[in-house]
Amino acid sequence: MRVLGIETSCDETAAAVVLDGRDILSNVVVSQERLHSIYGGVVPELACRAHVESLLPVLDRALSDAGLGLDGIDAVAVTYTPGLVGALLLGVAAAKAICLARGKPLVGVDHLQAHIYAAYLTPTPPVPPHVSLVVSGGHTNLYLTRDVADHELLGSTLDDAVGEAFDKVASLLGLGYPGGPRVEAAARDGNPKALRFPRTQLGPGSLDFSFSGLKTAVLYHCRGQNASLKTPPRPIPDLPDVAASFQAAVVDVLVARTFEAVEARGARALVCGGGVACNGPLRERLAAEGAARGIAVHLPPKKLCTDNAAMVAGLGYQLALRGRTADLALEVVPTS
Ligand code: KG4
Ligand code: ZN
Repeated sequence: MRVLGIETSCDETAAAVVLDGRDILSNVVVSQERLHSIYGGVVPELACRAHVESLLPVLDRALSDAGLGLDGIDAVAVTYTPGLVGALLLGVAAAKAICLARGKPLVGVDHLQAHIYAAYLTPTPPVPPHVSLVVSGGHTNLYLTRDVADHELLGSTLDDAVGEAFDKVASLLGLGYPGGPRVEAAARDGNPKALRFPRTQLGPGSLDFSFSGLKTAVLYHCRGQNASLKTPPRPIPDLPDVAASFQAAVVDVLVARTFEAVEARGARALVCGGGVACNGPLRERLAAEGAARGIAVHLPPKKLCTDNAAMVAGLGYQLALRGRTADLALEVVPTS
């Protein structure tokens, strides 16, 4: 079964064709990074306009890279939640149009579940049940995955998502947008032990996260005690140390909570997905902790961690197999 996937939930316009939920026949991603970088974050209206411009060429390219026309597609899977409402609507409208015109089944896909599914597109896919950590620009969620289409939420962030924390700290440090890769690059020249930033633990047994205290600690360090974002920036002579110490605090918290979840649920495997799963130190620590505990750690390649449509098409196939197709009344759900 060849599934066409469409992803437009935020600032990437993406389409892909995946065979039987495993083999990626094409995977096209057009990033709007440069468009939003001058504003220091995603501007929803601009994102929508850019999706309108890119979507049809991206779809054409995904089909031609796969050597297929629309008739060679057996189903269309599209991200319908969570994301920017206007951006989601564009992808869903395109998917519905194809399904209506060509009589194909439509599948609505949850973007966060798709980030987990990215691990299933690798040569050695995980075997459920496993714990899943989704770390993206908008979410920091821990799940117990019983099946690729059945996830129990175990914990999530009470304030900022981890990607958002990276992006805000990058902006504080004057590194620009998107922040994650730039903080990671700056941290390479720094000492992760130079500064002791807080590692918030929300009570015994809690698998939730909080990153706002950490972000404020970085703000105070860079601009002075009790500073606000309106306080004028000043030179940050120890910028690499700040970046490295912030990143170390984030990694410590993510790794600690994740393995607490693994232990609490007696899981033998772990998946980590989403844009922040590109982070080198996070990948290394998860892999090392997993190896030390005999837990199989599945980290998708970086290209499948950031937003893409192959993960949407892959999960779409699994949902279609389980009879979970949608009809043309499918509505977008911006918040999860
Ligand atoms: O999953 P994603 O591509 O989009 C959303 O669904 O939000 O995640 C984007 C987030 C951004 O906040 C970006 O700064 C972060 O992933 N990110 C990283 C790295 N690469 C991307 N964060 C830390 N280190 C990285 N190398
Ligand atoms: Zn994402």
